[in-house]
Amino acid sequence: MTRTDLPLPEPANLIGNVWQPAVSGASMDVISPIDGLPFARIADSGPEDVDAAVAAARAAFEGGDWSRLTAAERGRLLLRLARRIEDEAEALARLESRDNGKPIRQARADMAVTARYFEYYGGAADKLHGEIIPFLKDCNVELHREPHGVTGHIIPWNYPAQMFGRSVAPALATGNAAVLKPAEEACLTALRIGALAVEAGFPPGALNIVTGRGETAGAALSRHPGIDFISFTGSPEVGVLIQTEAARNFIGCTLELGGKSPQIVFDDADLEAALPVLVTAVIQNGGQTCSAGSRALVQRGVFDAVMAGLKARFEAIEASDSGEEAVLGPLISARQKARVEGYIANAGAPLIARGGIRAGTPDGGFYVAPAVFGPCDPGSRIAQEEVFGPVLCVIPFEDEAEAIAIANGTEYGLVASVWTRDGARQQRVAKAMRCGQVFVNGYGAGGGVELPFGGRRKSGHGREKGFAALHDFTTLKTIVTHHG
Ligand code: NAI
Ligand code: MG
Repeated sequence: MTRTDLPLPEPANLIGNVWQPAVSGASMDVISPIDGLPFARIADSGPEDVDAAVAAARAAFEGGDWSRLTAAERGRLLLRLARRIEDEAEALARLESRDNGKPIRQARADMAVTARYFEYYGGAADKLHGEIIPFLKDCNVELHREPHGVTGHIIPWNYPAQMFGRSVAPALATGNAAVLKPAEEACLTALRIGALAVEAGFPPGALNIVTGRGETAGAALSRHPGIDFISFTGSPEVGVLIQTEAARNFIGCTLELGGKSPQIVFDDADLEAALPVLVTAVIQNGGQTCSAGSRALVQRGVFDAVMAGLKARFEAIEASDSGEEAVLGPLISARQKARVEGYIANAGAPLIARGGIRAGTPDGGFYVAPAVFGPCDPGSRIAQEEVFGPVLCVIPFEDEAEAIAIANGTEYGLVASVWTRDGARQQRVAKAMRCGQVFVNGYGAGGGVELPFGGRRKSGHGREKGFAALHDFTTLKTIVTHHG
């Protein structure tokens, strides 16, 4: 069955499988970036709503129906939710596109990846084993992997459904009970997937969703003494707050805080392959991607050719509403648009090209014409700070050593790519990158659900995706039995 039209939700939180308005009765507007107009309302939750959600999760984890399920049964629920998301993918994609502004084709790809997270972790739930250490005399030593308990999840607005899957699916697969605080800017698909989880048969309290502002609902969740672990994706500034609150509660956290990821193009690169990827890696999702390829490091011998290729391509890109043909939609909010336009106005480097905004695009939407700058000073703001928009900076380099120094020369360390036909150089440069993922002659790998992902330093720590996330959402217990 394919459901094509979803009713917009009432402003309510999902707590213990019941939809409940905020205790205060407060709600807030949801604005579509396509035209800047409100089109739905969500609960504007406070600490008392977070308290209720954490209590429901605690009850589910300690003695509730959720705690009694086997790993295989949990896995089956996740798989059932994956099927529900697939069945509703088109309607969910339309909702995501309206809520977040992303091109419909991007939203469709997002829903496939979201379903895939639940499928992957559903399949993995009963395949996570402990270990035995056989080396001690007269003892048997077992390592058990146990869920943390109640996990908090704070996710951003750039990929609402995908982030839900990425953060929550491995937590549920390992038996935690989750409380999710999605972003106030875009969270309607998260609410809908919550409803699908209830339909799929998740017991009360396994998954709870509380909407609202970061400073209120988000802060209440991150400092709640009832959570045992917190997973956060968003800005470094809020990441520091999350980690500080986690420290006060003596719990662990995963932080994914974005980046300033380089693509390094050597003289011997296949430019026909590289050029389109240099563009899409920073245009995808309007550049509002943690792993956006926002710096192009280009060796002198091909610098002019790459600049010419980028100029032609950027000039041809138009921001437009999010219909079938769109490649670049609006940014999420007036605030993000102003922030990105500020970086463009103060780039401090020559503008190579600026794309356009398609005629007839709704007036009130948050559209930004894409821009490419170069040559940029590697130490300048545009080359150091995360812009989170369709803005690429191009930096020339002379040799491999300089390329590595520039690539590693920001506070971030999330993703990098290296374009060269020289196999030894591929290996050397990949190993020299201080980041969590390196691509050779490409950038990204579909949704990358199976591939451990995360950063270093200002990009955060901990690993999501793949089996690595199952490890982060569990804690090890060592049991030693003396048998004489
Ligand atoms: P943000 O970090 O404020 O928001 C992300 C999430 O954190 C949202 O759910 C928000 O409600 C929550 N939050 C905000 N303040 C909080 C607090 N005090 N306590 C607990 N939770 C809180 O990010 P924002 O303001 O939307 O974007 C600012 C910049 O952050 C962007 O321009 C971009 O550079 C970066 N960013 C990076 C993302 C990534 O994927 N790594 C995603 C979103 C933003
Ligand atoms: Mg913020």
